Amino acid sequence: MKQFLKFATFMFVVTQVHVKSDTADVVMSVLSSLLSQSRQPEKTTSAAPGILPKVLNPLNWIPKFPDVPWNPDSELTTPEIITRHGYQAETHTVQTEDGYLLNLHRIPCGRAGCDGSIRQPVFLQHGILASSADWIISGPEKGIGFILADLGYDVWLSNLRGNTYSRHHISLSNNDREFWNFSFHEMAIYDLPASIQFIYDHRKRTMGESVSENDLIYVGHSMGTTALFVMLSEMPEYNEKIKLFIALAPVAFMTHVKSPIRFLAPFSKDIERIMKFFGQNEFLPQNKIIKWLSKYGCEMNEVEKYICENTLFVICGFDKDQYNSTLATVIFAHSPAGTSTKTVVHYAQEIQESGNFQNFDYGFEENMRRYGTEKPPHYNLSNVEVPVALFYAQNDWLAGYQDVKKLYMSLPTQSAIDFYKIPFDNFNHVDFIWGIDAPQLVYDKMLHLMRNYK
Ligand SMILES: *[C@@H]1O[C@H](CO)[C@@H](O)[C@H](O)[C@H]1NC(C)=O
Ligand SMILES: *[C@@H]1O[C@H](CO)[C@@H](O)[C@H](O)[C@H]1NC(C)=O
Ligand SMILES: *[C@@H]1O[C@H](CO)[C@@H](O)[C@H](O)[C@H]1NC(C)=O
Repeated sequence: MKQFLKFATFMFVVTQVHVKSDTADVVMSVLSSLLSQSRQPEKTTSAAPGILPKVLNPLNWIPKFPDVPWNPDSELTTPEIITRHGYQAETHTVQTEDGYLLNLHRIPCGRAGCDGSIRQPVFLQHGILASSADWIISGPEKGIGFILADLGYDVWLSNLRGNTYSRHHISLSNNDREFWNFSFHEMAIYDLPASIQFIYDHRKRTMGESVSENDLIYVGHSMGTTALFVMLSEMPEYNEKIKLFIALAPVAFMTHVKSPIRFLAPFSKDIERIMKFFGQNEFLPQNKIIKWLSKYGCEMNEVEKYICENTLFVICGFDKDQYNSTLATVIFAHSPAGTSTKTVVHYAQEIQESGNFQNFDYGFEENMRRYGTEKPPHYNLSNVEVPVALFYAQNDWLAGYQDVKKLYMSLPTQSAIDFYKIPFDNFNHVDFIWGIDAPQLVYDKMLHLMRNYK
């Protein structure tokens, strides 16, 4: 009975769309009791035996899929998948100014091979809990990384700090707390500039002086858009290095977020406590919490249990119509690909400070010291000069119509070149990359825009 009452109180609290701060203690006490009930700590990261000998993903719990045919890509890294499909693959290590070592993958030519012509570079930036694998695991027919390579682009697949391919640093170990002391802000001001500059330098070195410094097309998904908006706002000189920005499921303002990530919003100022529940360093929520958070999504969508236990789907939502279940083993092998708890906290702050797109909130004292103001400064979107096309979907838990519309209105008029609604009502956050109909619903429009920015 006591259990039931506790649960009922909790469900009451969490079903409020915006959990108020004064209910934070109630939610926290329920979370605490959930945790204290588990006798021994559960492991979140055990992979099923025989799976994943090579992909270095420490986060995955891979369910057994009895009805799904085996797909070798579940055991391969991004470059291995690219090669398996008959394309050349390259891996480059980029060092950021603050010492992180990022692996940048590349598909330099199409299946037919290289013809020696200078190809326009496209930079594909994954979202939260994701990696370079996102753009290719749907295979040569549907993976946009492959489609672009076959159309004659020079395709670069980035990996932001903390994910499967970017877990090293020149002096820190990824067991150190300091290694994980970053949010999308640091990805924006260190990882993106380093990777973009690397691409230019590398192309110039290998293809000659005639390589242009400002023909790069940036395609971002989810956090991959947040990071570029932050970079362009904070470092406007980079506007010159990007020709066009395709923003898929863009996340900046987060007032209307439906993702259960919003339940974390009330704790966003209490970083120490939030880290107890979601991992001191890396975002590794305990199974109990993920299961609990996922209840919301599972009940809403009536999906199979295993889907609701993948952090990525818990946070980003799920759409039966566009989900290719044949890809399940591959998706689960590559996602979630890792990020810091601080990144999730930064997003939780955006939700809590409803309507602001702002720097990380360190609390009064540290804010005064860092920013010279009590509150963290807003990112100044007026600095965005790159033409931006915003693509959004009706059923997106993280980037719905109202928030994307606000973003569109906040950009300078001459920069906001498109505000495109995906013509399919159930389309959600991850369908932009893996959706069965993504080629028709997303990529056709995207490629059409890109042709105008040669
Ligand atoms: C994380 O970074 C902030 C700001 O740079 C600093 O104040 C804090 O001490 C750092 N924490 C850790 C654990 O490195
Ligand atoms: C934002 O940037 C614009 C143009 O770059 C500038 O005019 C404006 O003063 C800035 N706003 C703030 C609040 O800094
Ligand atoms: C689902 O994924 C598999 C494996 O990549 C692919 O062969 C198949 O065509 C996809 N199905 C649909 C409907 O997209």
